[in-house]
Order: sequence, then structure tokens, then C-alpha cells
Amino acid sequence: MSQHYDVAAIRRAFPAAEHVVYLDSGFQTPLSRPVKEAYERFLREGFETAGPKQIWLNRLEETRAKVAALLGAQPHEIAFTKNTSESMNIAANALPLRAGDKVLMIHGDHPNNAYAFLNLAKKGVEVAFIPMTDVVNADSFRSHIDERTRAISMSHVTFHAGHRFDVESVGQLCEQHGLYFVVDVMQGIGVTPIDAKAMKATFIGSGTHKGLLVPQGLGLLYWDATRVELEPAYLAAASLAEPPLDFIARPDNMALPATAGRFELGNFNLPAIQGLDAAIDLINAVGIGNVEAHCFDLGDYLIERLDQLDVGLVGPRDRQHRAPHIYVVALPATEWLDYFTQNGIRVSPERDGIRVSLGMFNTTADIDRLIEAIRARNVPSTQARTAVLSKLG
Ligand SMILES: Cc1ncc(COP(=O)(O)O)c(C=O)c1O
Repeated sequence: MSQHYDVAAIRRAFPAAEHVVYLDSGFQTPLSRPVKEAYERFLREGFETAGPKQIWLNRLEETRAKVAALLGAQPHEIAFTKNTSESMNIAANALPLRAGDKVLMIHGDHPNNAYAFLNLAKKGVEVAFIPMTDVVNADSFRSHIDERTRAISMSHVTFHAGHRFDVESVGQLCEQHGLYFVVDVMQGIGVTPIDAKAMKATFIGSGTHKGLLVPQGLGLLYWDATRVELEPAYLAAASLAEPPLDFIARPDNMALPATAGRFELGNFNLPAIQGLDAAIDLINAVGIGNVEAHCFDLGDYLIERLDQLDVGLVGPRDRQHRAPHIYVVALPATEWLDYFTQNGIRVSPERDGIRVSLGMFNTTADIDRLIEAIRARNVPSTQARTAVLSKLG
């Protein structure tokens, strides 16, 4: 049950949720019927008519507008990419960074973000990591900014412990110090509202195979279109303001458009984009605020049940600092992952435990199944464990 929307109806759109206790949307979404139908339409059109490319491209522009609305941005600020990593690399290489410049990041943040910037060492750009704590905000970065600092790059939500960092305050700090700000929203998008303008982000990167409900292989890039000085490292005809209609490249007309299309290369992942269109319609029909509220409620319920079992939670507990849908249970993955799998519960191994990640189709019954599985293994309480360990010691 949910007080926010008809979860039972939504669950019927995700048949996989009936076959397994699916608590792994932070890894990959199960497919929903509307997304499957969008792929099927694409296949049918390709199969029967060899592909109405222009119709597909027209639809792509409609999807671009929906992505923009989801991020509080304008359609011309959105580019389609391959995944988060590609978006972060496009961003890192578009920033006008030179030898001696410094980029601040958070230690232990997602490697697909970190390597995009670490790779700039080739240009003499330095990455300095600040420590990861349960709360990361402007104050966490402030004392690390010096005259060489040019940019900050960070995740909005962490994949490994469900922190939701205060990106708005960091964006404000970047504006005050004239720094570029690059944000990886892969873990939060589709589950928690994202406002590119409130974040004051220069670039935002994401994939679409978690909260945005489509299969792997499609990414998104938001670019603050006032930053016209930021140019792509790679170029294709599609990146130009005036691609040559006769398909003969002319070095004297390589002007870039005033749109994020400057960061796009060649043909698109059209089936995934059509899937994304259907997925955003589904998210909008439920309401992103309702998805967030529902996941928060399930998270509160999970925390309460874990407390009753005296099993710890890794990462922040309060709603202000945690993501609605990512919870890491302090049970060693080496001991617990196979057990959950054998019991029909799909979760992910993480650095400090077992990650439980929620989607719009989950219910308290899913949490109950997880809790019952933990209880069935008869976890000793912390006190009992401590007593056992002290005897052993
Ligand atoms: C924060 C974050 N960034 C990026 C990724 C994935 O990167 P990509 O979309 O390039 O596979 C993930 C998880 O897969 C993630 O949690």
C-alpha cells in the first residue's frame, strides 16, 4: 500500500517484480510494459518498413523536451550520449583546463566520474579528493579551494551508501568562486527531483538504466547553454551548426550550434530513446514527487525493521541526507549475497554491505521478505555478537 499512488497497478507494469523480490533498481531497472511496447513498436517499424528514420528523429526531439522538463532545463541544453561515463568525459574534456589547474572531487565517489577527470593528468591537470563524510556540502569543499582550483565534480547520490549530497550549496559555492560544476546524477534521476538550475551545474551527466527505466546504452548530458566557451573534444557532422547537406566536409564552416547538439556524435540509440520516452511518461503519470515519497516511506519502514533486528545501516539515516531509494545493510556481502539470491531476493554487493535499492513498484511486502530472510538466518544481536567475539578474543 502507498498513500501516494496506486502501487499495485504500477507493479503490474513490472512483471519481473512478481518473479523475484527485486530490490536492485540501483543496479538496473527491470523492464516495464510501456518501455517494452516502445521497443516493440520500434522493431515493428524497422521490420515492416525498413525504418522511418525521420519519424524516429522527430520523436527524439519530443523525448529531448521531456528530459529537459525532468531536469528543469531547456531542450537545447540536453544531449543524448551513450552512458554516464561518456557524459562525464565529454564534460571533463570540454572544460578549458590547463596544466596546473585543479579539480576537486570526493574520495570514493563513483569511478566512472573520477576517471574522466583523473585522465586529465595527461594535460597536467590535478585532481584533489576531499574526504567522503555522511554530509557533503559547500562547507566540505570551501577550505580546499585555492587559486588553482577551476572545477568541482561530484555525484548527487552515492551508489554505495545512498548519501544525497547538498549539490545546490556546492553549486552556489562554485558560482561564488567562478568554478565549473559537473554533477553525476545517475543514481538519483527518475526517483528524486533534479533541478539543473538550482544546482547551478555547468554539466550534468547520467545514464538511463536505473531510475529512468530503460536498458543500458543510453546516456544524457545537460549543458548550461550560457557557457558557449565550452566546446566538444570530438566532432562529427551532427555536432555542427550547419552540417554539409552534400556530405562534403568543409574546414571553413565548422561553427558549433548554440545547443547541446554540439556534444552529440553521429547516429543515436533510437530504440532506447523511444523506450525512454515511454518511461518518462510513466514517471510523470505517477509523479516524480510521489515516487520519491513512496521510496522514502519504504526506506523508513526498512530502517525501522532493521533496528528491530539490531542490524545496522551504512550511510545516513535521516531524509535530509539520504537518497529515498538506496540503503546499504551492514551485512558482509561475501556471507550474505548468495543467501539472498538463493532465497529469491535480488540485491547488490557493496563496499560495506548489501545494497537494497528501491523502485516505484516496490512494496512493504518486498521489505518484509528481506527482513524475514535476515531473521531466518538468526542474526545474533550486536550485544550477543560482541559477547561471542570477546570470548573468542
Ligand atoms: C553514480 C554513478 N555514476 C555512474 C554509474 C554508471 O556509469 P555508466 O552509465 O557509464 O555505466 C553508476 C552506476 O552504474 C553510478 O551509480
